[in-house]
Amino acid sequence: MWFILYAFLALPLLVFAYFELSVAKKKRVLNKIKGPPTLPILGNAHQVGKSPAAILNTLFDWWYEYDKDNYRMWIGYNGNICVTNPKHLEVILNSITLIKKSGIYDLLNPWLGEGLLTSTGSKWHKHRKMITPAFHFNILQDFHQVMNENSTKFIKRLKKVSAGDSIIDFQDETHYLTLDVICDTAMGVTINAIEQRDTVEVVKAFKDMCYNINMRAFHPFKRSELLYRLAPDYPANVKTLKILQDFTNEIIEKRIEAHRTGIAKKTEDNEFSRKKMAFLDTLLSSTIDGRPLNQQEIYEEVSTFMFEGHDTTTSGVAYAAYLLSRFPEEQSVSFLRNSELSWAMRCIGMPHSRKSQR
Ligand code: HEM
Ligand SMILES: *[C@@H]1O[C@H](CO)[C@@H](O)[C@H](O)[C@H]1NC(C)=O
Repeated sequence: MWFILYAFLALPLLVFAYFELSVAKKKRVLNKIKGPPTLPILGNAHQVGKSPAAILNTLFDWWYEYDKDNYRMWIGYNGNICVTNPKHLEVILNSITLIKKSGIYDLLNPWLGEGLLTSTGSKWHKHRKMITPAFHFNILQDFHQVMNENSTKFIKRLKKVSAGDSIIDFQDETHYLTLDVICDTAMGVTINAIEQRDTVEVVKAFKDMCYNINMRAFHPFKRSELLYRLAPDYPANVKTLKILQDFTNEIIEKRIEAHRTGIAKKTEDNEFSRKKMAFLDTLLSSTIDGRPLNQQEIYEEVSTFMFEGHDTTTSGVAYAAYLLSRFPEEQSVSFLRNSELSWAMRCIGMPHSRKSQR
């Protein structure tokens, strides 16, 4: 009886000791780099903040506090170094051996598998080579129509929601534009996110998943796939993941079938028929080691592009609009028309020169 009680009390202590010992060596090395003071178990996780915006602010505050140099932080038992020193960045980015991504990328694995972003070594190399033709200038050029048409719709939406004195979240609005563009260019399907917003199941799933991954990266326990299973938001995340997987897999299956039966080439009124090739079509006609890609490999690359191509471009468009708002002179039509920034005029719906429509 007493033995059981002791065992019960000792268990948490044993778990604690196990984790402490397993990171002891790493701790000694990492703690040579300056960084915020830590608590046992939590590290710095209690300080980072409870929203992506708050977290970003904290990370910048620490950067200032630690002399605008590299600093270390602990999220639970995960040690991190924020490498911000250009000299050190240069060494890392030029290295041909330091090519494995940080542990944070493991959080993407259930969704993206091992696509270009998350794979390493020879798998990455082969896939990279295979994907290069998908970025040929002529292929990218085909996507101008989608971008232009969808941007025009975006401008209409902006005009509507910003009417009167209303204040809008520009970046949030932009998400829907970039989702429409990436779905159309990567998979050849129209989801109409600009108009239908979160009522489209997959649009909501997309936003939820990105938010979730961001927040998990800074949570002391949710970084672990095993412990995350005990979290209150785990069941919802399983559902979200399934929505994303089903959506993408269904499109791939349909597309494979269309290619197989030759419909994609012949029928004009087919839902997929269009002159331009989506990224998915390029993948379907590509080979690795002389064989076509299997469905899982195609899934991984398409999902990776969906992820990589929407958050990044959202920030880019939002930041460009922000900068233009701060610099009225540069914002003027004549300045933009003659500048490298003429592409930005399309993004924000201003008339632009023929030259820039290339
Ligand atoms: C302003 C827009 C963008 C920015 C700032 C950006 C930034 C980046 C960065 C920093 C990486 C390296 C990440 C890492 O290795 O951990 C990366 C990789 C990648 N990006 Fe982008 N990206 C943008 C747009 C896009 C778009 C539109 C797509 C796809 C349509 C895309 C697809 C990818 C892929 C597939 C990788 C992995 C490449 C590889 O490892 O070979 N990105 N991007
Ligand atoms: C985006 O552009 C494409 C091609 O022009 C068009 O088929 C699609 O309906 C547009 N999507 C939206 C949401 O406007």
